[in-house]
Amino acid sequence: MGTIYPDDDYDYLLDDDDDYLLDDDYDYLFKGILLGDSGVGKTNLLSRFSKNKFNLESERTIGVEFATASINVDDTIIKAQIWDTSGQERYRTITNSYCQGSVGALLIYDITRKGTFENVERWLQELRNHIDQNIVIMLVGNKLDQRHLRVVTIDEAKAFAKRENINLFMETSALDGLNVYNAFAELLTQIY
Ligand code: GTP
Repeated sequence: MGTIYPDDDYDYLLDDDDDYLLDDDYDYLFKGILLGDSGVGKTNLLSRFSKNKFNLESERTIGVEFATASINVDDTIIKAQIWDTSGQERYRTITNSYCQGSVGALLIYDITRKGTFENVERWLQELRNHIDQNIVIMLVGNKLDQRHLRVVTIDEAKAFAKRENINLFMETSALDGLNVYNAFAELLTQIY
């Protein structure tokens, strides 16, 4: 199975200015999960959020990995343990078992690849089959830096979200960091 990062190495607190502070104190611990097709940018969104790092040549995730990061909401420190799953079919069973206990999920597609958007429906079904119905879900269109290659419009993504009762939607770029912090923070705030 994939790398399990030692908690301490990735235990950062993001303050209001998005600076990274080391801190092990928290008021709430939430488990979240990233789902979506292979290559949509799950690993890079998580590393951008938890370590402020991006890798243009990141390897495919094998099985699952996780990282933690904390945010401050109204003087309450919320620590998120986010599980990054593999988008590949062959790891589907492992992915399903790691959905258990998650209170939040980012359903991610690549705005430049239609198939990844069409498959969001499948990921959503998987999620709903394996998880507490109260889970907070956010639909995320990644690779916004490549908006000139966009094939999924904001309108169709919003329409899909509405149809599926998903209240949160955002477009992000793990490459330049646009909206990445906002997406995770919004999800965690909604859970809280
Ligand atoms: P699996 O582990 O196979 O499920 O893929 P993944 O969803 O984790 O994708 P990953 O983060 O490994 O990214 C796949 C490729 O897309 C890599 O080459 C990344 O550098 C690239 N990538 C990820 N996010 C972005 C982004 O926001 N913009 C651009 N231009 N490329 C991105």
